[in-house]
Order: sequence, then structure tokens, then C-alpha cells
Amino acid sequence: MSMSLRYAGGSRILHWLVAALVFVLVPVGIWMAGRAEMNIFDDLTNTLYAWHKAIGATVLVLMVIRISFKLRHDSPPYPATLSRRQIVAAKSLHHLLYLLLVLTPLLGWAGVTAFPALITLGGYDLPAMPLVPEDQALATQLFEIHGAFALLLATLIVGHIGAALLHLVIHKDGVFQRMWFDRQ
Ligand code: HEM
Repeated sequence: MSMSLRYAGGSRILHWLVAALVFVLVPVGIWMAGRAEMNIFDDLTNTLYAWHKAIGATVLVLMVIRISFKLRHDSPPYPATLSRRQIVAAKSLHHLLYLLLVLTPLLGWAGVTAFPALITLGGYDLPAMPLVPEDQALATQLFEIHGAFALLLATLIVGHIGAALLHLVIHKDGVFQRMWFDRQ
């Protein structure tokens, strides 16, 4: 496959970096929220929260970079074997993933600003989100939407991985390699 049939190097690196971070964030989020629900607020719970907030904030920053990168670089064309419907479905799912990868961390950040619980790794505070008031009831609502968006994101990611593997193993049409690094 020629280079022009792949995403730009920066897009590929950011894709796999964000994927790895979200792969950690979702189980850590579920684990810590479960411990909080059982009223277990020990060192482990605090450490999980601190890591979750730090990694989540990193994802938000990487997504801003990723979107600005995407706006400046064309996506490679799909192989001619893909129907128009398949391409529309793939693009729609990708846009939804982008949206959730921005909204989910924004809601988490808004929640910890409203709570307030901005403390993260090393005892450092995240900056408060501008215009969000301190309001615990608001924080509870924001966390609920944050959790629901995160679970929707995780579900869509499972579908996204399934489609990618289908192209890699069954169709062998080069779609997976658009986002991979090996030379061909
Ligand atoms: C793509 C980024 C993120 C993903 C995928 C994600 C995922 C999750 C998940 C799966 C949960 C558990 C929900 C539940 O079981 O109820 C959760 C909870 C939480 N997240 Fe995130 N998160 C992200 C970013 C952030 C950010 C940036 C912050 C704050 C700076 C944050 C703060 C929290 C907090 C405080 C909770 C616990 C809410 C509660 O105790 O009810 N998250 N997150």
C-alpha cells in the first residue's frame, strides 16, 4: 500500500494513543465509581480517581490536537470495493466517536469543577472549567451523563474494533492498514 492510502503519521499515532488511554479509562472509571458507591474512600479509590482525571484530561487535550490535525490533513480514499453505504456508515460512526471522545471528558471535567473535586495526581489541581458553578446537585447530574456517554462510547468502540478486525482478517482489503504502521 502506498503512503497516500494511509492516514497521516500524526493521525495514526494519536489514534492509537487515545485508544490505549480510553482502554484504561473505562475500567478504571467503572472500578472507582463502584467503590465510591460502596462508600469505600481509601487510598486506592483516591488513586484511581486521580489517575482517571489525569488520563481523562490528557484524552481531551489529545482530541483537540487530533481534530485540528484532521482538519489540516485529508483522509485517504477508501478502497473501491467498499459500497457507498458502507462508507457512509463508517464515517458516521467515526464522527460519533469523535463527538463522544470530546463530550465525555468535557462532562467529567465539568462534574469535578461543580463538585468540586479537581485534585489529581501528585496533589495538583486541574484548572476549573470556566463558567461552571460549584453545585453538588449539578455535579451529580453531570457525572450521570458522563457515565452514560462513557458506556455508549465503550459500546461503539466494540463495534468499531469488530469492523476493523473484519477488514483485517476476512476482507483483507487494506482498510485496517490505513491506520497501521507496517510497510507494504
Ligand atoms: C474519554 C474520556 C473519559 C472516559 C472514557 C471516562 C469514562 C468513565 C467511566 C466509564 C466512568 C464510570 C461511570 C459509572 O460507572 O457510573 C467514569 C466516571 C467518572 N469520571 Fe470519567 N471518563 C473520561 C474522562 C474524565 C475526565 C476528563 C474527568 C475529570 C477531569 C473524569 C471524571 C470522572 C469522575 C469524577 C467519575 C466518577 C463519577 C461518580 O463517581 O459518579 N472523567 N468515567
